[in-house]
Amino acid sequence: MQISVVGAGYVGLTTAACLAEIGHQVLCADNDLGKLEKLNSGRLPFYEPHLDSLVQANVASGRLRFVSPAEAIEKGRAIFICVGTPPLENGEADLSAIESVARTIAATARGYRLVIEKSTVPVQTANRLWKHLSIYNASGLEFDVVSNPEFLREGSAVGDFFHPDRIVIGAESPRAVSMMKEIYGPVLTSPATCPVHSHCPPVHEIPLIVTDTNSAELVKHASNSFLAMKISFINLVADACEAAGADIAKVAEGIGSDQRIGQSFLNPGIGFGGFCFPKDLQAFVRIGERLGCDFSLLKEVEKINLRRAEQFVAKVKKELWVLRGKTLAVWGLAFKPDTDDVRFAPALNIATRLMAEGAHIRAYDPQAMQRAKDELPEVTYCLSPYEAAQNADAILILTEWAEFRHPDWANLAKAVAHRLVIDGRNLYSAHELAPHGFQYVCVGKPHVPQLPVATSAKELVVSQVPVASPLSAPTVSASMQPQP
Ligand code: UDX
Ligand code: UDX
Repeated sequence: MQISVVGAGYVGLTTAACLAEIGHQVLCADNDLGKLEKLNSGRLPFYEPHLDSLVQANVASGRLRFVSPAEAIEKGRAIFICVGTPPLENGEADLSAIESVARTIAATARGYRLVIEKSTVPVQTANRLWKHLSIYNASGLEFDVVSNPEFLREGSAVGDFFHPDRIVIGAESPRAVSMMKEIYGPVLTSPATCPVHSHCPPVHEIPLIVTDTNSAELVKHASNSFLAMKISFINLVADACEAAGADIAKVAEGIGSDQRIGQSFLNPGIGFGGFCFPKDLQAFVRIGERLGCDFSLLKEVEKINLRRAEQFVAKVKKELWVLRGKTLAVWGLAFKPDTDDVRFAPALNIATRLMAEGAHIRAYDPQAMQRAKDELPEVTYCLSPYEAAQNADAILILTEWAEFRHPDWANLAKAVAHRLVIDGRNLYSAHELAPHGFQYVCVGKPHVPQLPVATSAKELVVSQVPVASPLSAPTVSASMQPQP
């Protein structure tokens, strides 16, 4: 089928490349000409595992092309709308980009169009779209409007497309439903070879939930708000564990072993970020108000989340007393691992607060530093976690990248000014760090102070050994190699 995708962001580009991969002819458009130019020269505008090779392969096969929105709307029989729906001041979703795409479709498209909203939109948006297309329909365009909410996660977006927990279709006509089944056919029946796994996990029957547009739209906001609530809940329990002297890891295990609850999304930390949860939660609260429903439960979820950064900074101050003039190594800036996305990233919020207290931040992130620089130019960006740790009064773990998992503690001990790790993602454990004389503070576990190592001896060590000579380092990942 000739498919067009308007909006080449994290959702649009992934959707376009994956639809081409399963055999469709896909035109992907964006009104950001710089982004289109980059894409047409084979460069991706953001980092997402597996997506670059998928885009290159499908451009090479001729199934994927990057074009202007006008061409995509003219030629696409099915049009996926994946443009941004950022939050407005009052938290409502900004639908102006959706409206402008609809206006273009109504004014320029001929014949039949299946208009598919994939961006996250408030309930009843499809009704408005339908009305808008009817009002501005300049050429007797025949059309159907479908809601097809997206559930992909950044960092695993390609895998999520080929192995969805469910596909939701909100439509008011059998023609629209059958076209959507045709579009997702290759994923629904037997996933084609999946670009992520050499051996795909055993496929289960992928539920295809066909309903009306309002219900489909609500599935998305409710799902994201529920997941956000689960995270805020476990963060709340983590606070209780810290105060009561319990272990959140065990408690989460105990809670999550209940099939009705499930283990996933019970990882405590510095709060949820990213372009989806914070804005979708706010938008859902506003939708509740518009519908006359009391969503104060979700307001609490948001409040708990906003407090996480404050609580983490308080932990740093408790350990280091005055932050003015202190050097803090920040490991991780992205809102989660495996992405370069720093939108609403808790790490940036925390770094900003620490700098406001007069601390100096030396940061490292495997993928997100360029985007972080645009937001926080005053931070010192380093080439490795080691460089970031040089003379640091503490190492702060703010994103749980796999490459931070096994650092060379012996060498780190020589590099830092004070052996202290404050872990906002519970990547390590106290007994792992104790042998190297590191104090360890994390989330949801009582802090067990370590006997500080005699500084004088350490100072002697540091001055003798050139910082981070690779020879003394056991083999660890490239970026975990101490810098010459
Ligand atoms: C998008 C939606 O914004 C979000 O609501 C939904 O939850 C997921 O899909 P994302 O793909 O992360 O999120 O957004 P973004 O990366 O900002 O991409 C949106 C793209 O649309 C951008 O490339 C932007 O240039 C493009 N766009 C925006 C258009 O092509 N036309 C417009 O009128 C506005
Ligand atoms: C989310 C939804 O998961 C996805 O279905 C939807 O399509 C888009 O929004 P994403 O924002 O990419 O995806 O990331 P996700 O993996 O959900 O993480 C969101 C935030 O929650 C991150 O900041 C992450 O660090 C945090 N998180 C996640 C926790 O703090 N604890 C957890 O247990 C899980």
